[in-house]
Amino acid sequence: MRDKIVAGNWKMNNDLAETEELLGKLKLQMVKDPEATVMVAPSFTNLYPTFQALKGTPVIVAAQNMHENDKGAYTGEVSAAMLKSVGVTTVILGHSERRAYFNENGEILAKKVNAAIDNEMTVIFCFGEELEDRKSGKHFDLVETQLREALFNLPQSAWKNIILAYEPVWAIGTGETASPEQAQEMHKHIRNLLEKNVGKEVASNTSILYGGSVKPNNAKEIFAKEDVDGGLIGGASLNAVDFVQIVNSF
Ligand code: 13P
Repeated sequence: MRDKIVAGNWKMNNDLAETEELLGKLKLQMVKDPEATVMVAPSFTNLYPTFQALKGTPVIVAAQNMHENDKGAYTGEVSAAMLKSVGVTTVILGHSERRAYFNENGEILAKKVNAAIDNEMTVIFCFGEELEDRKSGKHFDLVETQLREALFNLPQSAWKNIILAYEPVWAIGTGETASPEQAQEMHKHIRNLLEKNVGKEVASNTSILYGGSVKPNNAKEIFAKEDVDGGLIGGASLNAVDFVQIVNSF
């Protein structure tokens, strides 16, 4: 059985005081035992205080990125070991904003995924097409390439630590979400690719999240689709009431 997961990607929002305020509200809103696994991903500077504040709750703290090397002369970067030293064992990799603004390509992402797996971390791996790819009917192939480049060389045993997040770039922060049918169609395609390239068991056990303008008013419909196992939430995760409503949308 695969997990249902709702993860909030806070992106580059919230200083320490704002983070503490959001965490306080989140703890007030959350039911003790939500049906979904809940994760939040603050910026690097807020990881440790978030981990401390959420101790004793079921909420998992994730990082938004990490470097592929263990340590060394990489000014400005953060390693898996550093994340683990502050209690963080989950990391988002491959977000479209990292691909677009920081030139992260399949080769770099394969290294980052391998480093995370070597360090026994869980990876939320993001991928998805641009609007032009969809318009020209290339979206299925593009998603296959993104998965192949970064993930299909992993050993079977690594897959228990991989969560997939399909995030069509045209739906991120735009208010335009994929329809539940479009999400299901792509998620089914992804599961078929997993079955073909990795195996039946991994295909049925891997959680595939949808991301892109998920809000309280559309989450239920999207999460109801057979191959959608939850969501990666941007904007709406910055509001505790909205986020918890999404968490409770199964
Ligand atoms: P929005 O929910 O703001 O569209 O962002 C989605 C996202 O990029 C999550 O990683």
